[in-house]
Amino acid sequence: MGIVAWQTHYELGVAGMDRQHRSLLDHVNYLYESIWSGEGPALVEEKLTHLIEETKNHFLYEEKLLTSGEYPELEKHIDEHRRLMSDLTAKIEKFRKGEGVIGIELTTFIGHWLFDHIDHHDRPVADYIKGKRH
Ligand SMILES: [Fe+2]
Ligand SMILES: [Fe+2]
Repeated sequence: MGIVAWQTHYELGVAGMDRQHRSLLDHVNYLYESIWSGEGPALVEEKLTHLIEETKNHFLYEEKLLTSGEYPELEKHIDEHRRLMSDLTAKIEKFRKGEGVIGIELTTFIGHWLFDHIDHHDRPVADYIKGKRH
């Protein structure tokens, strides 16, 4: 049982985006389980690395999708990705260095961070893509 559960509300109706968002959520939960089962720092670090890599790939995927779909607010969305990435890595760095960020705070933060990305940033993008396909 992970810390954050998927809800149908987070389905945006664009299959590739939805699949990757669910996979990112799985990675948040793997991290949570790794921390709380006491697997040790090396395996926790592995989960963090996977999560960061998957996030980078996801953002690149969306940016390509938006470029080919001629999304009018592409630059703004790319800026949002940059900001989200730097928020994520800043929090992870604090956790890695033991600077006042403990496991539960980290995984809760990333869960909220992911849902904020889906709900506020990607929802209009998905609506645009679906509109173009009709
Ligand atoms: Fe996304
Ligand atoms: Fe996005």
